[in-house]
Amino acid sequence: MIRGPVFAANWKMNHTSRDAKTFMRTFLVQYARRPDRTVIFFPPALTLASVADALKGRQDILLGVQNIHWEAKGAFTGEQSAEMAKEAGATFVLIGHSERRHVFGERDEETQKKCAAALRAGITPLLCVGEKLEERERGETDAVVLRQLRAGTAALDPAAIGSMIIAYEPVWAIGTGKTAQPEDASAVHSVIRRELAVLAGDRTKETPILYGGSANAGNAAALISAENVDGLLVGGASLEPEVWASIART
Ligand code: 13P
Repeated sequence: MIRGPVFAANWKMNHTSRDAKTFMRTFLVQYARRPDRTVIFFPPALTLASVADALKGRQDILLGVQNIHWEAKGAFTGEQSAEMAKEAGATFVLIGHSERRHVFGERDEETQKKCAAALRAGITPLLCVGEKLEERERGETDAVVLRQLRAGTAALDPAAIGSMIIAYEPVWAIGTGKTAQPEDASAVHSVIRRELAVLAGDRTKETPILYGGSANAGNAAALISAENVDGLLVGGASLEPEVWASIART
């Protein structure tokens, strides 16, 4: 289902259903079907249905949600399950995004439970990892990323780990206009790639490892040309249809 570089739009808490319809009218004209890549939208959960509706007939463009709870149902006010996300048309879910971790206090063990829940429901976890600025300055980047990767995939069977997507999103680069240099992103992606091989062997050779953090139309080509950078997870620059279409065409 995933082909070529992955271009994933994380809309965060932006775009109402009405905004999404307007966005898609422009985007779908500017982004013609391309068999050599994968485009995924992560709209807010309440906007998902309107995006799914706008994408009817464009099976080349896929959908995900930004968060799930790990239980299938129950007394968890404000939460949504992986099964509900799947029924609404999501085939992916972001897990452990830095805003979930650092704004909402999500912990490593919760990312594991969410990955397991997504896999049980038949949707693909996109596990996000990344260090904060002070951790980078202390030389802890690899240690933080490896801790988050191991925790998120703990107790999952190797085949399940092999079906996941990973995103490296340095916290200091998210929404700040400070992008990691392609060679710095590539170095961390290589660390992730090596660890995936330890965790789940050869089946992770093709696991997409995306970069996220102030990616834009100007730096997208250089980033995805870097070794082991298999796509982009984009926030701010995915909110304008023309800009996002030009990134997705990179
Ligand atoms: P920005 O592209 O706005 O820096 O956000 C990145 C991100 O958090 C994507 O998940």
